[in-house]
Amino acid sequence: MLWRNACGVLLASLTVMPAAAEDPRAPLELPPDVRAAFMEEMRHHMDSLDDIIAALAAADFAAAAKAARTELAIGGGKGFGRFMPIEFREMGMAMHRAAADFADVAVSAPAEASGAYWKKAVGALEDISAQCRSCHAAFRVE
Ligand code: HEC
Repeated sequence: MLWRNACGVLLASLTVMPAAAEDPRAPLELPPDVRAAFMEEMRHHMDSLDDIIAALAAADFAAAAKAARTELAIGGGKGFGRFMPIEFREMGMAMHRAAADFADVAVSAPAEASGAYWKKAVGALEDISAQCRSCHAAFRVE
C-alpha cells in the first residue's frame, strides 16, 4: 500500500537522522559577557543596515553615506576582533571596507540620480549585506 510505503520511508529516514542537524559553521567560543556584547553589536549592525536602506528609500544619499560611515565603517567596532580567528577578522574588515566603499558611492550622488547611479548604489549596498551573509554562513557563537 502506498501510504505504508511512504510511512516506511519516512520512518527509515528519521531513524538515520542525527538528533540535531549538523551545523557546519565554525564555533566561536566567547566569554559570556563578550558574547552578550557581541550579539548586541550584531543587532546594532542590523539597525545600521536598516538605517542605510531607509535613507536610500527616501533618496537621501547623504544620510545613507553618513550611516554607513559612522555606524559600519572601520573603527566603529568594539574590538571583538581580538577574540576571533583570523578568518573572522578578515571577514569583519571586508564588511567595514564595503561600508566605506558604499559611503564613497553615496556621497558622490548626482543631483538627479540616474537609473545607472541607483544600480551602482544598490550594488554597493549589496556588497555590504553579502559580507554579513558570508560571515553568518561561516561562523556561529557557542
Ligand atoms: C565577521 C563576521 C560577521 C559579520 C561581518 C557580520 N556578522 Fe552578524 N553575526 C556573526 C555571528 C558569528 C553571529 C552569531 C550567529 C549564531 O551564533 O548563530 C551573528 C549574529 C547576528 C545577529 C543575531 C543577533 C542576536 O541577538 O541574535 C544579527 C541580527 C546580525 N548578526 C546582523 C548582522 C548584520 C546586519 C551584518 C552586516 C551589516 C552582520 N551581522 C555582519 C558574525 C558576523
